[in-house]
Amino acid sequence: MNNPEKIQKLITLREQAKAGGGEKRVAAQHEKGKLTARERIHILLDEGSFEEYDMFVQHRSHDFGLEKQTYLSDGVVTGHGTIDGRVIYVYAQDFTIFGGSLSETHAQKICKIMDQAMKVGAPVIGINDSGGARIQEGVKSLAGYAEIFERNILASGVIPQISAIFGPCAGGAVYSPALTDFIVMSENSSYMFVTGPKVTKAVTGEVISTEALGGAQMHSSRSGVSHFMVKDEEAGLMLMRKLISYLPQNNLEDPIQTECSDPIDRLEDDLNEIIPENPNEPYDMLDVILAVVDRQDFLEVHSQYARNIMVGFAKFNGMPVGVVANQPNHMAGVLDIEASRKAARFVRFCDCFNIPIVTFVDVPGFLPGSAQEFGGIIIHGAKLMFAYGEATVPKITITLRKSYGGAHDVMSSKQLRGDLNYAWPSAEIAVMGAKGAVEILEGRALKEIEDDDERAAYIEKKSNEYNEKFANPYEAARYGYIDDVIEPRNTRFRIIRGLQTLATKKEMNPPKKHANIPL
Ligand code: HXC
Repeated sequence: MNNPEKIQKLITLREQAKAGGGEKRVAAQHEKGKLTARERIHILLDEGSFEEYDMFVQHRSHDFGLEKQTYLSDGVVTGHGTIDGRVIYVYAQDFTIFGGSLSETHAQKICKIMDQAMKVGAPVIGINDSGGARIQEGVKSLAGYAEIFERNILASGVIPQISAIFGPCAGGAVYSPALTDFIVMSENSSYMFVTGPKVTKAVTGEVISTEALGGAQMHSSRSGVSHFMVKDEEAGLMLMRKLISYLPQNNLEDPIQTECSDPIDRLEDDLNEIIPENPNEPYDMLDVILAVVDRQDFLEVHSQYARNIMVGFAKFNGMPVGVVANQPNHMAGVLDIEASRKAARFVRFCDCFNIPIVTFVDVPGFLPGSAQEFGGIIIHGAKLMFAYGEATVPKITITLRKSYGGAHDVMSSKQLRGDLNYAWPSAEIAVMGAKGAVEILEGRALKEIEDDDERAAYIEKKSNEYNEKFANPYEAARYGYIDDVIEPRNTRFRIIRGLQTLATKKEMNPPKKHANIPL
């Protein structure tokens, strides 16, 4: 064979690989409103940047007549490319080949790029669209999954890992995405569950649809498994590009600061008026966040789940930060089990990857009641406390209004190594609200008052006294627990100054194998 023939063979093989499972299956994929693996990668990465590995890999199975069915690339497209010029490793399962199912060689391809991403120190994005373990390969497929899981675990906290679910993801296969940092699910075309509707019905008798059991809506609003729900795949791919822009390449690097045209000393007069007169009246914390971050740009994570707390990424003077904020507009911003877990995971992610944390506090406390206690609010609340307390990244806390009880301590307080703790003049930092305090402190006196009006007047008088003394920022500021009381409209400037000052912060935790966070 002379050289032109050899080159022609290469070209033919490449075309064969790119054809995936063939025209019919590609058409079927498109009919379902889904893109192929290569189309997804094309949208995700910078134009022309993708370098594919292992295009010529084929499975090695001889069972169930599989030796007669071979496809180049074996159901997963792997390689690397760039997003905004930064190296990203990627794999995308190809549903047109054996339903994207995972064989021994398919797993080896994924492991190869994960290993290389670890050596290079670059993020991995996995696009999942698969019927799960390749049934014909039996335990080899299970072993392949476990190889991936182990790499997900070792890579955790070293390189960012993002999973997109753009099709089926069932059985043990769900655990690779679950081990990664973020999961993106496309609406109406993706699902995740450990056991599907058929097995569920057989084992428990429960009849439930695929969508209700493991669809994007459920996982984004109820289970919290999914961090982002997107209307279609293209939106998901663009979202992952944006998400990457806030992250460093690995745990030894800082996130990349970009040019910022938004003035750092922009005064937001509306913030001086945003806290309602009535302390029980809600307002939208999102308005506060959008007013202070660069160009009103906030990438909210878990926006539909545990809405009493908001978490997400933003930039201040071009510097990426993680934002955590109680949301008075939903359940008065109370901390419950779900909110604690959601925020704890986010805080830990930021700390892994050197992303400073800015916390906006307006929290009435932990949610009381048997449902919370039976569900273990103690252990879940402790997760958030643990996450803030162990975090060594710069931490800036702004207390807008309520900061009561244990929730005060938890929400990035000074004693949990908050670096800069500012409060607005409307802050109320105390052990509990006036009503609860008066009922406990004045219980005996109240028992002796029989007349209802007299009783109400007494409660009001005592509440006012309590508020006067405790429901303000100055008591905490007197002890140095609050570094300064700031004018709300100047919040953006104070945060940016703080971040600039803290950019060189160095803080270490005591040496240990790893901590024992209350799981
Ligand atoms: C081999 C598979 C496959 C699998 C699908 N295919 N899943 N081949 N192993 N697991 C093949 C089909 O034979 C078919 O081949 C093609 O992929 C497309 O599948 P369809 O069924 O035609 O597609 P669709 O109707 O869209 O249904 C998709 C599906 C269904 C819901 C994913 O295929 C399905 O239920 N598959 C089995 C799922 C499953 O039980 N997997 C094992 C889970 S246990 P042709 O040649 O016709 O195109 C597991 C354990 C992991 O994963 C443990 C890790 C620790």
